Amino acid sequence: MKKIILTGGAGFIGSNILKHLIKLKYHVVVIDDLTSGKYSNIEGLKKSKYFGFEKCSITNYKYLNNVFKNVDFVLHQAASKKTVCDKDPRKDLKVNAEGAFNLLKLSSDHNVKKFIHASTGSVFGENKTNKSQNENSIKKPVSYYGVSKNAAENYIEVFNKLFNLNYTVLRYFHVYGPNQDYSPNGGVISIFINNLIKGKPITIYGDGSQQRIFTYVEDVVRANMFSINNKKTNNQIYNCTYGKRIKLIDALNLISKTLKIYPNKLTYTNWKQGDIKNFNVSNQKLIRAGFNYKYNFDLGIKNTIKSFYK
Ligand SMILES: NC(=O)c1ccc[n+]([C@@H]2O[C@H](COP(=O)([O-])OP(=O)(O)OC[C@H]3O[C@@H](n4cnc5c(N)ncnc54)[C@H](O)[C@@H]3O)[C@@H](O)[C@H]2O)c1
Repeated sequence: MKKIILTGGAGFIGSNILKHLIKLKYHVVVIDDLTSGKYSNIEGLKKSKYFGFEKCSITNYKYLNNVFKNVDFVLHQAASKKTVCDKDPRKDLKVNAEGAFNLLKLSSDHNVKKFIHASTGSVFGENKTNKSQNENSIKKPVSYYGVSKNAAENYIEVFNKLFNLNYTVLRYFHVYGPNQDYSPNGGVISIFINNLIKGKPITIYGDGSQQRIFTYVEDVVRANMFSINNKKTNNQIYNCTYGKRIKLIDALNLISKTLKIYPNKLTYTNWKQGDIKNFNVSNQKLIRAGFNYKYNFDLGIKNTIKSFYK
């Protein structure tokens, strides 16, 4: 039975990965301090003999050291989110950069077979060219969040060079799906669906023309599984995104049409600082490695809406 440490397992993406791992009978230890994650996301799995939970911050090296026993894989999903980072950039540095460093050090010291890391498109910064960004494109983050997540990517490559720690970095882009937070710190798709269902007003930062490349969470879970099982992904960085660009206003219109509920009040307000307006990213490298995306935006939205009525 393979043992996996899953950081951030009570969060949106982590809890979706967790369900999958438990189904496959991996022995999973979740490390989460519940700052944005919810215990309710993992409560249903409490009884499983394959599930363990440590309420702990990834900044607490001493505590983490006790958890690292016979670990095969680390799936590092914990992070301080962009919305938190904007308000508290020092915490962001501590969690996203030093937290990743702690886990890398322990993974290397304890001979972990592979470190799979959740990174982000925010490491790129604004794309000012007409070309799509591939994995070799220059990284120029424009937010605290992008800088700290980029530091984690750089540490990973250093641990690989110095200590041969095997890794895969998956850079996620605009993930949506069940369990995503719909509070103001949450994801835009969940916020739109929640507000439409509850008849609450909708606010768009900017004019709605910003492009996003939404990726359904199940495809992100599958990409993590692919990284565990496929040697081709060793020591590689991938853009992990469904790849189709959609304007935010068009996403809202599609959700309204699917729900048959239209906003009772739609407000446009100032752009958010550090918000990237246009994403133009190539997802071909992961596809060339043999991965396929299963969920187009229509299907992902239908599934996400269904989860609100469960
Ligand atoms: N959701 C997206 O669209 C998206 C896009 C790009 C990258 N990512 C990355 O994916 C990963 C998961 O994001 P998510 O959307 O599920 O966010 P989330 O906030 O739902 O999950 C993050 C989890 O990490 C936990 N956490 C935060 N600080 C911690 C700490 N110091 N110690 C231990 N646990 C801590 C939180 O409690 C939460 O459960 C993150 O690394 C994020 O940077 C997400």
